[in-house]
Amino acid sequence: MRSASVSVAVLSFTLFGSHPGMLTAQGPVAQSTRHQRPPGSESSGGSGAVDPGPRPGAANAGGALPGLNGGEQNVFNESLSVFMEVGSVSGTVPGEEGVGLGPTFNGNSCAQCHAQPALGGSSPGLSSPQNPVANPQVALANANGATNTVPPFITADGPVREARFIRNRDGSPDGGVHGLFTVAGRSDSGGCSLAQTNFARELSNRNVIFRIPTPTFGLGLVEATPDAVLRDNLANNQRVKSSLGIRGQLNTNGNDGTVTRFGWKAQNKSLLLFAGEAYNVEQGVSNELFPNERDVAPGCLSNGSLEDITHMEESGTAAQVSSDLVSFSMFMRFLAPADPGPSSPSVQNGANLFNAVGCALCHTTTLTSGKARYPALSNVTYHPYSDFALHHMGGGLSDGVRQGNAGPDQFRTAPLWGAGQRLFFLHDGRATDLVQAIRAHASQGSEANVVINRYNSLSSSQAQDLLNFLRSL
Ligand code: HEC
Ligand code: HEC
Repeated sequence: MRSASVSVAVLSFTLFGSHPGMLTAQGPVAQSTRHQRPPGSESSGGSGAVDPGPRPGAANAGGALPGLNGGEQNVFNESLSVFMEVGSVSGTVPGEEGVGLGPTFNGNSCAQCHAQPALGGSSPGLSSPQNPVANPQVALANANGATNTVPPFITADGPVREARFIRNRDGSPDGGVHGLFTVAGRSDSGGCSLAQTNFARELSNRNVIFRIPTPTFGLGLVEATPDAVLRDNLANNQRVKSSLGIRGQLNTNGNDGTVTRFGWKAQNKSLLLFAGEAYNVEQGVSNELFPNERDVAPGCLSNGSLEDITHMEESGTAAQVSSDLVSFSMFMRFLAPADPGPSSPSVQNGANLFNAVGCALCHTTTLTSGKARYPALSNVTYHPYSDFALHHMGGGLSDGVRQGNAGPDQFRTAPLWGAGQRLFFLHDGRATDLVQAIRAHASQGSEANVVINRYNSLSSSQAQDLLNFLRSL
């Protein structure tokens, strides 16, 4: 716990919040709102409480983990520049020396999509206090002469998005990412004239869902957390969870049964695997994990596969020898979690309410990594605000896509660390406002319904404290 609460009215929350194991189905909320809610007020969700918006000031994220040794720090610095590298079809465009863009793509650099509030983060945007920029996908559609149409779900003031289709043309399940753009028309296209996917048709068939980038801060700690820690954490507070309708299930890897934890549906096992997939899916770069081009079309194979390799024949720095894949994953592995902003009595009270209302039953406050090869990642207690488990979130959030054990309406509890400086929320980026994001948790079939009812019964000042707490993360 941080400092003791100063407000008498919230004292019961303070005590309660410090013992999450004592949560009860009734909780202190009902009890306290009897005193707190103005008589006759039918308001819900503390109407009047507003999201303070993305926290201004310096980005509290983007640096290396504390405790890296000199060599590890060098690897971090070098691999950061690989993460920032911009790609073009054959690496021939000045300033765009990465090799292998396309034939289809959503972006041309990891850092293009993972940018807010610092490199490695989530979608950039115009409302950023740190670095206000328009969605880079708008300009990318026509960069270097490309002739793509900007799909209607990509807007200057909206989030970076990727698009997945729910079904194939024959009605069978799809779920995969469909590249927004092709290299056709680019000066470096090598004559590739692959037509852009017809998003208008798929949109009118209600067949398109979206995903926004998740931030990668602190993910080395998540990767270094043993399966048993996640299983035990999910099993904690079972009685309270079930009394509130909260279940949860870990996503697992088909072949070895171990816990997968990365991505909106916890669909991917490791940072290396995610990097390999992202390099291939987002940028079109064939690599040692995903060796095949995605949308092969005549005249579109400008480079031989693999476009990214380990340079075993070279001697040089780590980044010169290793594949880009390995550099990407080392950067993310050594990237520190976002630091919280300043605390205050309101933030402190909000933290207590976050526990008391039951948010923390899914958004687990604290986990500990296991014994790790790198001391900076070994046995570290961290605060992800996620159980990394899947929960049914109801029809309102369902995207109709299955990934591993995750069904259409199941999502990984979104980690809330760094939420204070985020611009867009929920898997498809539909919310820019925390209140909207919280309300969207409630719909038929959602495991969060009871908790959201409890949130809705908070007084305005309590709801404000909760929002202030979220913006302090
Ligand atoms: C066009 C935008 C875009 C680009 C470019 C991009 N990403 Fe992502 N990234 C996303 C989206 C969208 C997701 C969420 C995908 C999902 O779960 O469906 C994501 C998720 C991730 C995650 C999962 C993080 C977590 O919290 O579990 C990792 C890791 C990641 N990206 C790494 C990379 C790397 C490495 C690169 C460069 C090779 C890259 N990304 C390039 C959009 C992008
Ligand atoms: C049953 C588990 C569960 C409970 C209870 C729960 N959440 Fe969530 N939360 C999730 C899941 C799953 C998502 C991701 C949903 C999606 O993107 O479709 C999420 C997303 C969020 C987001 C958006 C984060 C992002 O990265 O976009 C915020 C903010 C949030 N929750 C806050 C809260 C607060 C505050 C409470 C308590 C009032 C709460 N949640 C209760 C499971 C839960």
